[in-house]
This record gives sequence, C-alpha cells and structure tokens, in this order.
Amino acid sequence: MTSDAKPLTVRIIGAGRAGRSLAKALEDSARFAVRDVLGRTDHDRMLASDSADVVVIATPDSVIAEVARTLPRSTETVVVHLAGSLGLDVLAPHPRRAAMHPLMALPNPELGAARLRDGGWFATAGDPVAREMVAALGGRPFEIGDEDRALYHAAAVISSNHVVALLGHGERVGNEAKVPFEALLDLASGNLANVASMGPAAALTGPAARGDEATLDAHLGALRRRLPAELATYSALLNEARLLADRHEPAPATAGPRIVATIDELRGTLFDHRRAGRRVGFVPTMGYLHAGHVSLIEASARANDVTVVSIFVNPLQFGADEDLGDYPRDLDRDLELCAAANADVVFVPSVAEMYPEDIDTVVSVPTVAGPLEGAARPNHFAGVATVVAKLFAIVGDCRAYFGEKDWQQVAVVRRMVSDLSMPVEVLACPTRRELDGLAMSSRNEYLTEAERRQAPVLRKALDAGIGLIQDGERDPATVEARMAEVIATAPLAVLDYAAAVCADTLEHSGALAGEIRLLLAVKFGRARLIDNDGCLA
Ligand code: PAJ
Repeated sequence: MTSDAKPLTVRIIGAGRAGRSLAKALEDSARFAVRDVLGRTDHDRMLASDSADVVVIATPDSVIAEVARTLPRSTETVVVHLAGSLGLDVLAPHPRRAAMHPLMALPNPELGAARLRDGGWFATAGDPVAREMVAALGGRPFEIGDEDRALYHAAAVISSNHVVALLGHGERVGNEAKVPFEALLDLASGNLANVASMGPAAALTGPAARGDEATLDAHLGALRRRLPAELATYSALLNEARLLADRHEPAPATAGPRIVATIDELRGTLFDHRRAGRRVGFVPTMGYLHAGHVSLIEASARANDVTVVSIFVNPLQFGADEDLGDYPRDLDRDLELCAAANADVVFVPSVAEMYPEDIDTVVSVPTVAGPLEGAARPNHFAGVATVVAKLFAIVGDCRAYFGEKDWQQVAVVRRMVSDLSMPVEVLACPTRRELDGLAMSSRNEYLTEAERRQAPVLRKALDAGIGLIQDGERDPATVEARMAEVIATAPLAVLDYAAAVCADTLEHSGALAGEIRLLLAVKFGRARLIDNDGCLA
C-alpha cells in the first residue's frame, strides 16, 4: 500500500468512545475512508460480503478475540485492534493483522478525535497499515512486539492512571493539613516539566534525594499517627525515590568494602586513610543487618570519607540464659548490604581475636545503665560498654552511629565517651520501622506468625502514651498504666516494663516535664522486643 494509491475503506467495529473518536479523526483523511461504524453485536453486517480494506476492532479488550473470530477471513482485509496490552495473537484467525494503540485518553468522540490528530504517540505492531493510519492522523508511531506488550502497557498505565492515583494520595494527605490542592497541582506540573527537561533521576529533589532521614522519619511518624491508611503508599513511593536518588549519585566503582578480620589490619587500613586526610565514620553492629542498620551505614557514608562497619556478636553482653547461641547470622547477606550502603571497611573479628583470653577490665556506667534494660538484664550494659570501648580504641577518632531504637544504649555510650574523654562523636539516628509500625530488629526473626501479627502493639502503646501526654496528662504512672493496658490487648504479649521518664536521665522525676521518653520491653514467646519514642511535656 502506498500513499498515492486510492483511499482504503475502513470499517470500525465498536461504537464506543474509541471507535467514534477514530471515525471522526479520519473524516478528512485522503488515505482512509471510514465506511461505517458497527456495533459489536451487529453480526449480520460484519458477515456481509461487503467487507472493507481495513477492519478496526475498537471494542473493550475482553471481547476483541470473540469479534475477531466472528469476522470473515480474507487476505484482502487487514484486521487492526486498538488495545494496549494485547498482542497480535488475539486476532489469530486473520492472515493480515495489526495493532495500533493510541497513548492518550479519549474521553468523548469530539475531544478524542482532536487528541488523535494532535501529534501524539501510538504503539503499533504487525501490518504496515497501522503505521500508515498513524501517519494519516499526524501521530508518532513506535513498534511494540507481542512479547513486550504487557510491559509496555504497564508503563503506560503507570504514567497515566498511576500518576492520577498518586495525586489522589497527595490530595488526601494535603487535605488533612488543609493544603490547597491547586498548590500541590502547581508543584506537580513544575516537576513534570523538570522531568521532561532533565529526566527523572536529575529532576528528583527533596528529602529522599538529600538523604534527610530525620525529615522522612517525621513524615512517616505523622502519617502513622494521623493517616495510617496512607502509610503504605508513602513508603512504597519513598522506596522508589531512594532508588532514584541512588541512580543520581552512583557510588564510585569499587570492588566493594574491604573485609578485615584482625585488629592489626583494621588499624593499618585506617592509618592509611587518615594519613590521606580522610574522616572516619563507624557503625558497630552484631550483624543480621536490616534497614535500620543500613540507615546508620548510609548516614555515615554520606557524612564521612570512610565508613567502617563492625559485625561482632559480643558474648559479654548476653546473660547466661539469653540467646547468644541462637543469635541469627548471615554474613554473606550482611556483606552485600554493607556494599550496597557504601561501607568501605567491614570489620568481622572472631571471638578469639576480640577476647584472646579472659577479659579482666570491665567498663561500667552504673547510673545510666541501672534502670529499665539494666534492671532486666543485669550485666548487659557492662558488656556493651566494654565492647564499644574496645571497638572505639581500635577504630580511633571517629563519628560513631547508633540507633535511637536502643535509647538507653545511646545514653550509656554517650556517658562513657564523655567520662573517658574518648575521641568519638556519638550520633543517634531515628528508628526504622516496618510498615505496620514494628521497629526493625534482628530479633524479630524469632517471632511466630501469630506473634508477628500482634507485635505492632508496642508502637500502638507508645502512640497511646504520647497521645495522653499531648492531651495534658503529667502523671508518669497514668501514662505507664495506659501503655500497659494497650500491651494487654495483645494476648501473646507479656509486658516487662512500660516507662515514662526524663529523656536524658531515664529516671522518674515527679510530674512529666521537658523532654520525655516512653520506653517499652515486651516478651512475645522467645522474642524480647524493645521500643521507645519521645515527646515534649
Ligand atoms: P545491633 O542490635 O546489631 O544494632 C546495631 C545498631 O543498629 C545499634 O546502634 C542499634 O540501635 C541500631 N538499630 C537496631 N535496630 C534499629 C532500627 N530499627 N532503626 C535504627 N537503628 C537500629 O546494638 C547492638 O547491635 C550492640 O549492642 C552493639 C552496639 C553493636 C555492641 O555490641
């Protein structure tokens, strides 16, 4: 078929928006003459012998195959469908087949015809007549084979329907804070223009692009408290933004972190880095890493030139009846996560390397370590302080990253560093949580399915306690009782302690005033979970 040949007759089957839009759009075409638009059940006319050169099936996707089977087969006729997600096989009985999917919304025949003639994009396949029709409409065709059809359509749905759904999400969250929707729409349009000029990765701005975890944590906290139904969508999109941010600033190509097993080698490695003027960040862990650990490593990698992660399950901090033997381990996965989070050195000493013989020196911080976890686990914090002091002595001058998840641990380490003038700046990072509010922890591994379902009760109890304080309650015992009550709603939970204390000293000091920390320890079967959150009174 060439463009100077006589017009091709077109029959459109399906008198809905797509069919009528196309008929109208082709009205002035010199190349295609629309003969008729048939209803999809008009079998008599479909089967009559006066068929057209081109038959376009413009019905809903679900009936295209059935209509195609009804149509008479002919080598003279090209059968075309307009579906985005279907391949040519759906037109199987016909020897000459094509597909032509307009990438635009056709809300009614008038607007639809205008859009079809507006120079837009069309995904085509099969017989060249599809591309000819696109050319007649003044559109831009691109070929999509059957094997890519579903993915092509998914991408199209993401860029049209999902963008609309996303703005619905923005509208709901904005409504809660009384933000005018027009303001959000202007923001969205500006961003679309930026994406058009520089591509998605370079156009990404905001807290995910900056790695501003504290701000993101504030968003998640506010959503959890006020719009929990929006949390999953926000988190999924945040994940997407983080992936995009990583693409924007690709990690320098290295062979991954250096893995070091001895104290001497670590000292030597860090000596070389420091001589080159590099600032060291340090993240001590016991391994079995999750997104909480990863957030510390990323925070360090952003702020320092060299990030050291230690992975060492420290026997000194486990009680005789605790889970030292069962503590979960997966070094290969840990090393992959360290690499992905841009760690430069991973220190993985053996117990013999760290404690070649019985250790006689113990670092204890008895006042800060006394209450709460210290009361429940008598030698725990002496074990933590001792190993952290030893790790600091090995790593030397550094910024060290800890999680607020272990609030009392941060207080113990800070006090030790201050009392012993250690050359370390201690930084505390926000607690990372699962979507349902459960704080991430290597020990969540121990939960059975039923326990896991009930475990978010810790987060709920903290929210209830904070709610009481925000409503004006100042009696710590009342706040503690309220948290205990919420924990008791989970049949598998056994409360160890629920405390409302001064955030710095971790002690009760009469009526609640200033910075308050609420802390919980709850047993679920084998797992002992801790969590905490703060507010001002
Ligand atoms: P571990 O439990 O492996 O935790 C290592 C660091 O990750 C700690 O600073 C902890 O507070 C932080 N972390 C754990 N869960 C987190 C979460 N959900 N969000 C943010 N940070 C989180 O804590 C220890 O190891 C040990 O006591 C150690 C300090 C390494 C000494 O042995």
